[in-house]
Amino acid sequence: MTTQPEVHVYRDGQEWAQRACEFLHCVSMERIQSQGRILIALSGGSTPKTLYQSLVDSEWRWRFEWDRMVFFFGDERCVPPDHPESNYGMARATLLHPLGIKPEQVHRMKGELDDPAAAAQDYEHRLREVTACPAPAVPRLDVVLLGLGDDGHTASLFPGTDAVSDRDRLVAVGRSPRGIASRLTLTLGVINQASVVLFLVTGTAKAQIVRAVLEPRDEKERALPAALVRPQGGRLVWLLDYSAGAELSRRTTGPR
Ligand code: 6PG
Repeated sequence: MTTQPEVHVYRDGQEWAQRACEFLHCVSMERIQSQGRILIALSGGSTPKTLYQSLVDSEWRWRFEWDRMVFFFGDERCVPPDHPESNYGMARATLLHPLGIKPEQVHRMKGELDDPAAAAQDYEHRLREVTACPAPAVPRLDVVLLGLGDDGHTASLFPGTDAVSDRDRLVAVGRSPRGIASRLTLTLGVINQASVVLFLVTGTAKAQIVRAVLEPRDEKERALPAALVRPQGGRLVWLLDYSAGAELSRRTTGPR
């Protein structure tokens, strides 16, 4: 069963950030109560960074059971962990270090390896090991956080690249047309197996592409990588601010 997206649009700034924290808290508590831990894949990009900062700098910090949370990454740039472009480096600086998350709770992609294909394979093994999910089954993460690029990419699944159509791997080598070209990324197979996929998108610059992904008008828009995110039997939740949601014909706010 493919689920319909739940789209929530909140006031820019504080309200959006607080709602995002609240949503994540709600899902985390529910998972921890039912299964003792939560497996969450973090995203790179400036919007998730705002969420991480809000989690650390607000009262939400004291409400989460951080020691029950296991962190993965949805994608990584092929750079060392201390490089300014590293997604792990950003998450470590804004979220993991300030909260004192133990190293054994964090599973990062090895962007520093010379061979990205080997790094992708290494992460696939790690995913299978931690989730106790042997091949050919696909591991189910509890939450996958995603951002949205203005070209419709998400994670490091860029339009027209092989990683988008990779059905054999859990983790693939991605190729970005901008910035650090070589990337590691979860494939759609793993993303679409998650219990909750949470898109975090803010700002006017994203309004057009948000409309294209959520209300596609042609085949090209329907084929955008972000539009191919459709969890099978899981929830697909979009948390937008008013600026990012400005081009949508319908708006939903309120219930989570
Ligand atoms: C990355 C990402 C990428 C990002 C989007 C949106 O490593 O860059 O995972 O998919 O989330 O490009 O980024 P912004 O939130 O910065 O616009």
